[in-house]
Amino acid sequence: MLSQEENDLLTRVGPGTPAGQLLRRYWHVVAAASELTDEKPKKRVRILGENLLLYRNRRGGYGLVAERCSHRGASLYYGFTEDDGIRCAYHGWKYDACGKCVEQPFENPESGFKDKIQHPAYPVEKLGGLLFAYMGPADKKPLWPKWDVLVRLDGVKKVDVCEVLECNWLQAMENSVDPTHTYYLHSHTLKLKGDKDYVPFHYQQLSKIDFELVIQPSWAGIQKQRIFAGDDVPAEAPHPLIFPNILFVPVRTGYAMHFRTPIDDANTQVFQFRFSPTKDGRIADQPEDPPFEFVATKNDDGEFHLNHFASQDHMAWETQGPIADRTCEHLGEGDRGIIMFRKLLREQISALQNGDNLIGVNFDPAQDEMIQLIHAGYDAYSFAAAREREAKLA
Ligand code: FES
Ligand SMILES: [Fe+2]
Repeated sequence: MLSQEENDLLTRVGPGTPAGQLLRRYWHVVAAASELTDEKPKKRVRILGENLLLYRNRRGGYGLVAERCSHRGASLYYGFTEDDGIRCAYHGWKYDACGKCVEQPFENPESGFKDKIQHPAYPVEKLGGLLFAYMGPADKKPLWPKWDVLVRLDGVKKVDVCEVLECNWLQAMENSVDPTHTYYLHSHTLKLKGDKDYVPFHYQQLSKIDFELVIQPSWAGIQKQRIFAGDDVPAEAPHPLIFPNILFVPVRTGYAMHFRTPIDDANTQVFQFRFSPTKDGRIADQPEDPPFEFVATKNDDGEFHLNHFASQDHMAWETQGPIADRTCEHLGEGDRGIIMFRKLLREQISALQNGDNLIGVNFDPAQDEMIQLIHAGYDAYSFAAAREREAKLA
């Protein structure tokens, strides 16, 4: 149980809030690159409580700027993308990707007025067909993490852009250290729906749930693992929560990274990046920007359809409320991971406030290598074997 002050401290993401400042020290997914096309090179995005415009310029570069023009506030969404920036449709002020005002067609060029304008703008990097943005102080910008599933070319990539999650980001992240939720929420639900493809482990008893804090030079997080009774085999390959807002998870077809980007205090955009390695290690034949698919979690009537994991998870997270009221919860032994994650988040907020180093941010070019999330141990894991074990125990 948390006090109201603690709950606010950990959940609020707007500019100037403690968790918002911490989150701004990390790179966040803002879109799948394939969402921007020649016909539609602009997308409005709201990230960490800020209304922004993401665009692709005519040379293929990306920009992320405040949506409202610094002149008199018209939306740049209706602006013109040009070779090197975006031009406001109202009076034609033009900004480059750094937010520098490079043209003011109706001002005296001698006045130097444009040089006084700094439009809010954030750096964007593309990796594996995802667009990442950094919204913190320029001098604290870490190197962007080169996750293996994004970097590797020997697999098919796809991005699921989920229906907006109408609740705070922390609810989604607490779920990533909540291994007991998979039984009823996912497996039981799918089994009752007659889904033959339901995930295993429905009847198995856990003997142990392990959580381990991992601190690497270029990423940090909590590694979790379920061990089943009478069968010293881990229930699954380890899949870490990556601090502060990512889940890495093995799936039937390969691997997935779930990026939970806070839109604001009460909304979150989930991107599920999928990587299916080719059998023989050959380079997959696919476009540079993998395709994206919109994943609906609700029916037209607004009810969760619960037909897949994303809908089931979103149901559980959203129905906890826009910001879960942690002043009246009752945490048990099974919630150890959640307590551990909150502690880590609190510690990192304090570290930021004290000017100490943060975990999972890398400034050292010598360490700027591919981050290996896929380990050899993952090959040993098989859904079929897990299901066999379940059949024995049922
Ligand atoms: S409001 Fe954008 S140029 Fe005037
Ligand atoms: Fe889940």
